[in-house]
Amino acid sequence: MSEPTIEDYFVEDRTFPPPPAFVADALVTDDSLYREADADPEAFWARQARELLTWSTDFHTVLEWDLPDAKWFVGGELNVSANCLDRHVDAGLGQRVAYHWEGEPGDTRTITYADLLDEVQRVANVLRDLGVDKGDRVAIYMPMIPELPAAMLACTRIGAAHSVIFGGFSPDSIVDRVNDGGCKVVITADGGYRRGAASPLKPNVDAALEHCPTVTDVVVVRRTGTDVDMVAGRDHWWHEVVPAAEPTCAPVPVGSEDLLYLLYTSGTTAKPKGIMHTTGGYLTQAAFTHKVVFDLKPEDDVYWCSADIGWVTGHSYIVYGPLANAATSVLYEGTPDTPGRDRLWAIVAKYGVTQLYTAPTAIRMFMKWGEQEPAQHDLSSLRVLGTVGEPINPEAWMWYHANIGGGRCPIVDTWWQTETGGHMITPLPGVTTLKPGSATRPLPGVSLQVVDDVGEPIERGGGYLTIDKPWPGMLRGIWGDPQRYRDTYWSRFPGRYFAGDGCKIDDDGYFWLLGRVDDVMNVSGHRVSTTEVESALVDHDAVAEAAVVGATDDVTGQAIVAYVILRGWAEENPEMVEDIRQHVAVKIGPTARPKRVIVVPDLPKTRSGKIMRRLLRDVAEGRDLGDVTTLADASVVDAIRTAAG
Ligand code: WTA
Repeated sequence: MSEPTIEDYFVEDRTFPPPPAFVADALVTDDSLYREADADPEAFWARQARELLTWSTDFHTVLEWDLPDAKWFVGGELNVSANCLDRHVDAGLGQRVAYHWEGEPGDTRTITYADLLDEVQRVANVLRDLGVDKGDRVAIYMPMIPELPAAMLACTRIGAAHSVIFGGFSPDSIVDRVNDGGCKVVITADGGYRRGAASPLKPNVDAALEHCPTVTDVVVVRRTGTDVDMVAGRDHWWHEVVPAAEPTCAPVPVGSEDLLYLLYTSGTTAKPKGIMHTTGGYLTQAAFTHKVVFDLKPEDDVYWCSADIGWVTGHSYIVYGPLANAATSVLYEGTPDTPGRDRLWAIVAKYGVTQLYTAPTAIRMFMKWGEQEPAQHDLSSLRVLGTVGEPINPEAWMWYHANIGGGRCPIVDTWWQTETGGHMITPLPGVTTLKPGSATRPLPGVSLQVVDDVGEPIERGGGYLTIDKPWPGMLRGIWGDPQRYRDTYWSRFPGRYFAGDGCKIDDDGYFWLLGRVDDVMNVSGHRVSTTEVESALVDHDAVAEAAVVGATDDVTGQAIVAYVILRGWAEENPEMVEDIRQHVAVKIGPTARPKRVIVVPDLPKTRSGKIMRRLLRDVAEGRDLGDVTTLADASVVDAIRTAAG
């Protein structure tokens, strides 16, 4: 066995076996799924695909694997909206609530499966009337309102792919994504409510579409009632065209490997990657994991994932997993501190939420706000708690367990990525003994290894997290760029998918995620590329050169710290720093706005001209500097330190 590649110092020895009261009613209580999957992973996934989904044509081949290209359930045909809606309505569940929707101002809507099916068929017909065909791409830029899942499902009904663009992104980001995907239609809203105010969306679409030649039409939901410009011939109000559309639209069967959606994610270069997910394998993994990881009892549970649908967590665990499983979910439009810091807990109590799935960054914020906020509400309906997006530190885990879960709810810490489509490493709540801060073990049917620098698997200690066998929900590529797909994911370690994360394995075989090892930051659970932020910085007139690092932050996990060299004329302007921060927010979106911009006279570089980010991270985190011998000019560091204060 080779030496660990990443040192680890942290030892956590508290353990939490599944509580007997939970096990008594749990769906999975032993290791039979693990054994079944170990014995024959393909047969295991084929069984899930056939039991959890309804296929209009059965598949003849479970898996075709020609590294790095996987095809799952080949020959099979199905329609996603029929799996998420029609079959439930046909089974008599039309009156079951699909979404308890809660608007931020306090308005509510109850959307049954029958309601959603009706709306989806009409929207599908609207899209058809606008010339959207099977295989076309539709961009969706919306707030968290029920029309958002309806728009996604309407695309799937006619075999079109959607590309959801997070509502926090700027016009420039919309341009990049719409043009890369060649989208024909954009679905948006006038705005949505955030932090107690209407936040506009349509003006961003208008600005973007000046540079998007492929878009012919825009459908606009009226949510906030704020004034918007409607371009004649291009823009259509949802509330005019949807009710007027034909009420029925037969679901179009598509191939298991047909494109379901594109979702853009940051990598180590400036250009976002259009991650491709296809139909049969993705939906199988989303449905399977949503069911077993959250111990879902769809007839009784009220499940709530508080993520935004603009990220993959919302795609898989607000829309596709829950709807395929006929679950009842809560959908909340706004922020957790509006009108008060107890909003989430008020919602849990109001709807009797049984599973809550949120992010460590949110939990750390709740910790700061204090335990008196959840204590005001009855949270006794909760059975399972989940986390996703970044490593959860053990103290935050313990706080969540005690103050939200009342000490009785298992916590499923789920590791996965936009690229994996669904959970990969996570406990099963009725089976796994938990350790605070560990995502525990790979799911049944998932084969992950931690490897050292040369790609040799290690059984204990730290290294790089890799995947050596295809899984149903895996990305099928990067839209329009098969070479980048190979280079990004399959070239670092031959024969292995490299996820970009460090990971250690402890003596019990538990996996502990150690964060990103590449130049991707994780800010509040959102991946932001250092390169992208640097590009936005140097795009500002006053910036001559820029380097960006992620520095550890109490609340957001990592915070963006930018070091910039200003052009001579800008150096004396005290407002420049704020202007530069704002520029990044406008270019990329508020998530990417640097927490600090530090003006420096020079950047630390190696003799070959590479910026030494490690040093910049040390400065940003106030640490002593390690080895500086490779620096071209060691005096630079003192100057940077002085600038950072
Ligand atoms: C990080 C979000 C530790 C990780 C679903 C991964 C996590 C990146 C966890 C993917 C977790 C996600 N523990 N780290 N439970 N979940 N991550 O694509 O660095 O937005 O590579 O997908 O988030 O982020 P993405």
